[in-house]
Amino acid sequence: MSSLRPETRTVHLPRPSIEGSRPIAAPIYQTSGFVFDDPAVFADGMRRPDGAFVYGRLSNPTVRALEEAVADLEGAVGGVAAGSGMGAINVVLLGLLRSGDHLIAQRALYGGTASMIADLAERFGVEVTYVPEDDPDAVRAALRPNSKMLYLETIANPMTQVADLPGMCAAAREAGLVTVVDNTFASPILCRPIEHGADVVVHSTTKYLGGHTDVVGGVAVFAAEELHRRVWSFAIELGAVADPFAAWLTLRGMQTLPLRMERHCANARLLATRLAEHPAVAAVHWPGLPGHPSYELAAKFLPDFGGVFSFDLAGGREAGETFMRSVRLALLAPSLGGVETLLLHPATTSHRGQSPAELAASGIGEGTVRVSAGIEHPEDLWADFAQALEKCAG
Ligand SMILES: Cc1ncc(COP(=O)(O)O)c(C=O)c1O
Repeated sequence: MSSLRPETRTVHLPRPSIEGSRPIAAPIYQTSGFVFDDPAVFADGMRRPDGAFVYGRLSNPTVRALEEAVADLEGAVGGVAAGSGMGAINVVLLGLLRSGDHLIAQRALYGGTASMIADLAERFGVEVTYVPEDDPDAVRAALRPNSKMLYLETIANPMTQVADLPGMCAAAREAGLVTVVDNTFASPILCRPIEHGADVVVHSTTKYLGGHTDVVGGVAVFAAEELHRRVWSFAIELGAVADPFAAWLTLRGMQTLPLRMERHCANARLLATRLAEHPAVAAVHWPGLPGHPSYELAAKFLPDFGGVFSFDLAGGREAGETFMRSVRLALLAPSLGGVETLLLHPATTSHRGQSPAELAASGIGEGTVRVSAGIEHPEDLWADFAQALEKCAG
């Protein structure tokens, strides 16, 4: 190199290659492309999701480490990471459906997914039928010759209905449908939908997998190679891929996922149980409480019931606003699944797109508050909730 001029040597700075040891933590491969010695390996890498790394939109080692980590936890063969949870959901919906196909989806869906499915119906000619999340016979009754996909969420937002994954996946499988499950709320620690018959699992990694409220991302993982390859081919056309730094932050978060999930669930249990006994509270919606409509079903296949719940204040909207203004530790903020306890008012934020009739049908009231229990000390959280509830009563 020394015979070359500085203009050339600064462009071709040394490229690190490590021999004799390797990094403990996954490195961030911050490069848009990769250099080849062999043109045949270059060409092969363009053709498959597990080939040599070629170009950042097709694959990247840090991003693939994330895809493989989630696939491993979910019992899948491979994954496709995306720039957000909606990115992951969309590569699956758009990659596997075409106009004229029929999609069966559960009625209670994350708002972004619900609007996307409405768009698929209105603008892209996909037929859609909505069914309850726990009624396999409703799937059988909805079947048409062009039915292609069943779309479910393990635990729905914000009323935390639990889908009958074993029953619903079996009904879809009998008819040859692909079942897609959004497992964001449960995380692979509480549920692995592929074990119950799902074909594709999607996550907003922004939530529990990342876990620290500092990164937006998504991932889809697949039970079979053929689905993985089809969705990967579409994802690289769409281009909504994950970037290596986001993948790295998510991987770092995932190392503590089991510990965090344990505390999220324990904190949700304590808050939900005490709220249910409080005179200012009309109802608590958490599938771990015996009165919840999904309690018995959830107890059959979930080892715990998640860190998200909602509750209705007896004093309606005014009490809801007072509560949200009065909490000091819990934060009024969007999203969920991070280490901090977060609250929001679904009727005016996450579910603002729903009409009053739709809100009523989903059981979301003016006084409903959604809580994502963080990992703080449970008694500090309860003290904060208790002082805010006192103001609602007064
Ligand atoms: C269940 C569920 N799925 C998907 C998403 C979308 O994820 P993202 O915001 O990362 O696009 C969310 C976001 O809140 C969600 O709660």
